[in-house]
Amino acid sequence: MRRRLCRADELAEGTARGFVFGAGAERRALFVLRHGGAIRAYRNACPHQGTPLEIVPDQFFDSARRHLLCRTHGARFRPSDGACVAGPCLGRNLTPTPVRVEDGLLILDDPD
Ligand code: FES
Repeated sequence: MRRRLCRADELAEGTARGFVFGAGAERRALFVLRHGGAIRAYRNACPHQGTPLEIVPDQFFDSARRHLLCRTHGARFRPSDGACVAGPCLGRNLTPTPVRVEDGLLILDDPD
């Protein structure tokens, strides 16, 4: 799956944005973030129970913008590698998904 997500400059430091593509068995939910100047993307599924991390659209960071936060049971994840650092899935990771910048656009290169 190769898709244009948004312009890279629309993603400010310490923010994230969710995307959903397809439906049913083909449904894919992911989010992209910018943290420490780096842009990364993860599947939007908590390793604890598989639910989306956010409740309010695009609210993936905690209030300090230090960690990603699962709103279901409060797991916290490092933005740099998706590792859970607190909560019920401690030691597990968000699933990264490949994203790159091309001509100022964020491009998803997801093999699924
Ligand atoms: S579903 Fe994310 S912490 Fe439980």
